[in-house]
Amino acid sequence: MKLLFIGDVVGSPGREMVEEYLPQIKEKYQPDCTVINGENAASGRGITEKIYRQLEAAGGDAITMGNHTWDNREIFQFIDQTSNLIRPANYPKGAPGKGMQMISAGSNEIAVINLLGRTFMNPVDDPFPVVKKLVEEARRHTPYIFVDFHAEATSEKQAMGWYLDGKVSAVVGTHTHVQTADNRVLPGGTAYLSDVGMTGPYDAVLGMEREAVLKRFLTTLPTRFEVPKTGRTLLSGCLIHMDRKTGKALSIDRILINEDRPFV
Ligand SMILES: [Fe+2]
Repeated sequence: MKLLFIGDVVGSPGREMVEEYLPQIKEKYQPDCTVINGENAASGRGITEKIYRQLEAAGGDAITMGNHTWDNREIFQFIDQTSNLIRPANYPKGAPGKGMQMISAGSNEIAVINLLGRTFMNPVDDPFPVVKKLVEEARRHTPYIFVDFHAEATSEKQAMGWYLDGKVSAVVGTHTHVQTADNRVLPGGTAYLSDVGMTGPYDAVLGMEREAVLKRFLTTLPTRFEVPKTGRTLLSGCLIHMDRKTGKALSIDRILINEDRPFV
């Protein structure tokens, strides 16, 4: 059983990379399920219904979110009508949408969970007890459980990996937009990667125009960050191979496509 995860899609350059490469990646690795983090897909901030449908049409079976979930207000009009749009599970009670969804993968189902970290981020409910409850619920249906942990601090991400080791198939980090090289299968059988990286502008700062970011660092003056419309792009992802019977991870491999590392 294989799950493909594509990291934080940023703006139209990110969406174009998904449309260009996802069919080729799927052809090569034959995943049973594809998850895409789309929290930056609408100009870097949130998602629209059109873009959600576009990512689904490009091959995404589930779309996960993060701290930018509510940034595009259009989401309130369609989130409760979607089946496979998953927002962080540890938003306080009363938030629309859902934090876990069973996704069909052939004759099986994979539970996809989205969570937000709390270290150096805006306050939300504690992700640890929230995920514990969700995992107990998911395990009644399936041994395949994937967690997208959208968090800033590598310490919080590693802690979550160890907390869920042996209980889920994979814990993969998103949000920092830089792919880490620490992919491994933890001793209990949980695949772990601190951050999968982003998909979008390559010659930018975390997907935003570098001039504006530099100006803010150099002058401390407020500047508006925009996604560059042109220029080189990259795609970041990972492939998790799970045992068919137990759901435990057998391997986790990084995928990185850019002009310095062309797709072959
Ligand atoms: Fe984020």
